Amino acid sequence: MPRSENARNGRLRIEAFRIDDYDRVMDLWAAGGLPLKPQGRDSRESVARQIGLPNVRFLVARDGDSGPVVGTVLATHDGRKGWINRLAVDAALRRRGLGARLVRAAEDWLASEGMDILACLIEDGNEVSMRVFEALGYKKHPEIFYFAKRKHPGV
Ligand SMILES: CC(C)(COP(=O)(O)OP(=O)(O)OC[C@H]1O[C@@H](n2cnc3c(N)ncnc32)[C@H](O)[C@@H]1OP(=O)(O)O)[C@@H](O)C(=O)NCCC(=O)NCCS
Repeated sequence: MPRSENARNGRLRIEAFRIDDYDRVMDLWAAGGLPLKPQGRDSRESVARQIGLPNVRFLVARDGDSGPVVGTVLATHDGRKGWINRLAVDAALRRRGLGARLVRAAEDWLASEGMDILACLIEDGNEVSMRVFEALGYKKHPEIFYFAKRKHPGV
């Protein structure tokens, strides 16, 4: 990590999400404008299940040993590609390198799992997120369209 980046957020630790962080993390995601499915994949029960899976690594940035969560990233893989999801940083701490630090932590874990392709899905209009991922070496693929099939709209 470059020295300047470390100096800007060195106090913040990146570590595993604990289920006690759930409410704070939902607030952080809502404040960051991330789409939430509280009855579906973002329910407490679903998140608790996800963090028990071997192909999931849910990391948070914490201010001090027991301070509040100020950033999140959820790394997952399907055995072929690694996915970076749920990147969010507290609005008061943005533009100090924490988002990049979280992505790199997710990338390190995905690399250790053997993933050579890393990907993320970004909603149309989220220009900041596009700038962040471009800055971190990700290439936009306008020729690819996201198709999904849902059991019901709340999932
Ligand atoms: C996306 C987000 C996590 C970025 O976190 P961050 O800590 O501010 O990002 P960083 O400081 O690590 O930025 C890394 C690089 O991304 C680019 N970048 C970050 N914010 C930017 C902005 N507002 N405008 C243009 N470029 C930006 C810059 O190149 C930056 O490097 P620099 O500061 O040295 O120029 C944060 O803006 C956020 O929480 N947004 C709301 C949630 C969200 O949209 N998440 C993404 C879902 S796909």
